[in-house]
Amino acid sequence: MLQLEFFPRTELRSLLDFQSLEHSQLPLSDRKRLAYYPEFYQAPKANDIIRRQHAQLVDKILGLRVKYIEEMLVAEAQGFEPEGTHETWGPILHQGVQTWIGLELQTLQTPYSECFRILQLLKIKPYQHIIDLGAAYGRMGIVIGGLYIKNSFTGYEYVKARVDEGNRLYRELGFSRSQLLQQDLFAQDFELPMADVYFIYDYGQVEHIDHTLRQIEKIAHKRPVKVVVRGKFTKQIISDFHPWLELKYEGKHEEFFSIYTAYIV
Ligand SMILES: C[S@@+](CC[C@H](N)C(=O)[O-])C[C@H]1O[C@@H](n2cnc3c(N)ncnc32)[C@H](O)[C@@H]1O
Repeated sequence: MLQLEFFPRTELRSLLDFQSLEHSQLPLSDRKRLAYYPEFYQAPKANDIIRRQHAQLVDKILGLRVKYIEEMLVAEAQGFEPEGTHETWGPILHQGVQTWIGLELQTLQTPYSECFRILQLLKIKPYQHIIDLGAAYGRMGIVIGGLYIKNSFTGYEYVKARVDEGNRLYRELGFSRSQLLQQDLFAQDFELPMADVYFIYDYGQVEHIDHTLRQIEKIAHKRPVKVVVRGKFTKQIISDFHPWLELKYEGKHEEFFSIYTAYIV
């Protein structure tokens, strides 16, 4: 059982347990303790609705201000196009880049429990580096910061407000090996750094994802890589145009992501 200062005997067995933590507005010392606790990132049940609700509660308990910032971005986009939708607001605000402004908040990001499951399946070794391509608020970097203390994480994200908020929380929790960088992944001068694992969740338009996969292909000529893919567009692009990626893991119960490997020798 978890020992918090505020809640001396804390169980994390149901959503109600998470809700009571949310309502109590924990001091930073307790939030830090939670962030290093594996059960904190596990949804009480494996179904999708519970995983999303759990993820929303984890955001709130840790103090990640996703709802507030996304509402500000929607308000800004509505100033340009009052009748727009999540398909149009991102490109209007961000020079044509699909940043998914107005998308349902739990669809925008991967649930924490799924980030944790992905990292377990990857069997991450110490000192391996993980990159999230289009990281939003960097949930993957939170799970790595808390549970994989010998690993490092970089998330690239176009939207500055998301980058600033994610980095603010990393700093608050003391996660010095996790960082978010503001970057257009499609920029001509952007050279993708080497990493052991790349994570892509349908970050942008088809040609952008294709461009990124080609950059990973170049890296796979030099070293082994794993690519974790979430979202149907990226999977389709891989099956149509990137035969060099080999499907390694597609579990029966993990319908939301696939893991590929590549080392082109
Ligand atoms: C569907 S979200 C996924 C977030 C995160 N990877 C996760 O799984 O929780 C995709 C993110 O990619 C970002 N994005 C889209 N196009 C981008 C680009 N050209 N450069 C950098 N980020 C981009 C969007 O702003 C959005 O935050």
